[in-house]
Amino acid sequence: MFSSRKLSLLLGIAAAAGAFASAAEPGHFGYGKTATPAEIAGWDIDARGDDGLGLPPGKGTVERGTEVFADQCAACHGTFGEGEGRFPKLVGGAGTLKNDRPELTVGSYWPFAPTLFDYINRAMPMPAPHTLSADDVYALTAYILNLNDLVPSEFVADRDSLPKVKMPNRDHFIWTDPRPDTTSKPCMNACADPASVKIMSTAEGNGLTPRTTGPLDTMQPK
Ligand code: HEC
Repeated sequence: MFSSRKLSLLLGIAAAAGAFASAAEPGHFGYGKTATPAEIAGWDIDARGDDGLGLPPGKGTVERGTEVFADQCAACHGTFGEGEGRFPKLVGGAGTLKNDRPELTVGSYWPFAPTLFDYINRAMPMPAPHTLSADDVYALTAYILNLNDLVPSEFVADRDSLPKVKMPNRDHFIWTDPRPDTTSKPCMNACADPASVKIMSTAEGNGLTPRTTGPLDTMQPK
């Protein structure tokens, strides 16, 4: 249901957009401005899993990671990554992936070490993401890998060393997407006659899409 609060929020956003438009540089849509390289750099922080492309300069030791983790992470994840209360464990679970209740952790489940850097860098510590230096994120990555017995205590994490860490579950992911629409080439000319195309099933016919739109209680398929 559309609450009047939501509606006024939308109107507020529309009004704000209008206000920007008047001050905007002329552009394709007549509003907004071209992002500066510095603004783009602020968003462009992803590090690719398998080869670490995009990892920033910097480095961090397991020892430094121990300190930062105690300060910034242990309250939720436990001093040794064992997890406090219902906050996630970052350690353990090796050999449990085929169990009825697998224990999915960085050590048991994650395929790539650079992804650990990427995740901490973009999302942690949960109350204050994007507050850690690259060196400290490298140090935390080194510490968590060491807690999982994946690197020795003298390991130094950086853009060269992380892609070389072989994670135990690395080879158990399927990297190809077998759905036909990901592999078939779109037809650009001399395509099938649309009249010959038969619709075999629809989301609506399968009860996946409501037949009517309107307030929620009338939207359930009858
Ligand atoms: C206030 C509690 C809190 C703090 C502090 C915190 N985290 Fe987390 N962390 C979480 C929660 C909750 C999740 C699960 C988030 C989700 O699944 O969306 C999580 C998820 C993670 C994960 C992914 C676990 C997985 O297997 O999916 C990593 C890695 C992680 N945190 C690292 C850190 C590090 C490193 C720090 C310190 C810089 C930190 N966290 C600080 C609450 C916290």
